[in-house]
Amino acid sequence: MNYRHAFHAGNFADVFKHAILLALLDALTAKVKPLCYFDTHAGRGSYRLDDPEAQKTGESHDGIGRLSGADAPPAPLRRYVDAVRACNAEGGVNEYPGSPLLATHALRAHDQLVLCETQGDEAAALRTLFRDDARVHVHQRDGYAALHALLPPTEKRGLVLIDPPFEAQEGEFAAIESALAQAHTRWPNGVYAVWYPIKSRRAIAPFHRHLSRGPFAEVLAAELMVLPDDSPLRLNGCGMLIANPPWRLDMTLANLLPALRGALAQSPRATHALRWLRRE
Ligand SMILES: C[S@@+](CC[C@H](N)C(=O)[O-])C[C@H]1O[C@@H](n2cnc3c(N)ncnc32)[C@H](O)[C@@H]1O
Repeated sequence: MNYRHAFHAGNFADVFKHAILLALLDALTAKVKPLCYFDTHAGRGSYRLDDPEAQKTGESHDGIGRLSGADAPPAPLRRYVDAVRACNAEGGVNEYPGSPLLATHALRAHDQLVLCETQGDEAAALRTLFRDDARVHVHQRDGYAALHALLPPTEKRGLVLIDPPFEAQEGEFAAIESALAQAHTRWPNGVYAVWYPIKSRRAIAPFHRHLSRGPFAEVLAAELMVLPDDSPLRLNGCGMLIANPPWRLDMTLANLLPALRGALAQSPRATHALRWLRRE
């Protein structure tokens, strides 16, 4: 297990994931009551885009690089671009905020964050980054096991982000399905967002089918293909599955997804999709 997110920070998949994450947190913070944000695979919280790892792949050029210099990003993406810029000094984006850092900015003083990360140096980086933020609780442990142990949060409302590295390739879906089933028994009303890579959409069908049968009453899937899904051996796109989505999130995503496709397409055959897998 040696996945390092620094190679991929700020790529198209991060832009997609983090724009949706902010939409979720904004919807949840519309109510005054405190909430808990639970990040099962947190990473290190922040990434320098001029580090050798990021430079080696150059993936951020087709991600945040397409938006950070824009005077006027498309309206649905303004919230996301402003949040990334807020983590940087004036005049450019060198520091790319991961999900934990974006979440600390989007949440309020009375909210809590639980961040799980297995790699020692990544967990240590999280502790350093958030040493002065009493809302943040870092756990160096398996995020799936932590869900089982720590849910439900005392706030009884909030969001779980599941963003694994998919080193087990399609086997990761089985781990996610099992984690979601267990989480549902402990906290059926939580909002759960699961990021997944798409090489071929056919490979995703069993995962969607599984979630369409329950246990969550409402499940929404948002997807962006930056390349056609028959491009060989590539990360052609990605998706976010959202169980128990907040009220009207589908409408927000209906605006966000075409803007993401417009900004991030790598082919004229790029597509986006928004679909209810289950709705009662
Ligand atoms: C895709 S990265 C996370 C990126 C982060 N969520 C973000 O958006 O900025 C996945 C992270 O999960 C960590 N990881 C891998 N397996 C894990 C597990 N079972 N539990 C917790 N963290 C894990 C990896 O070390 C890696 O840092």
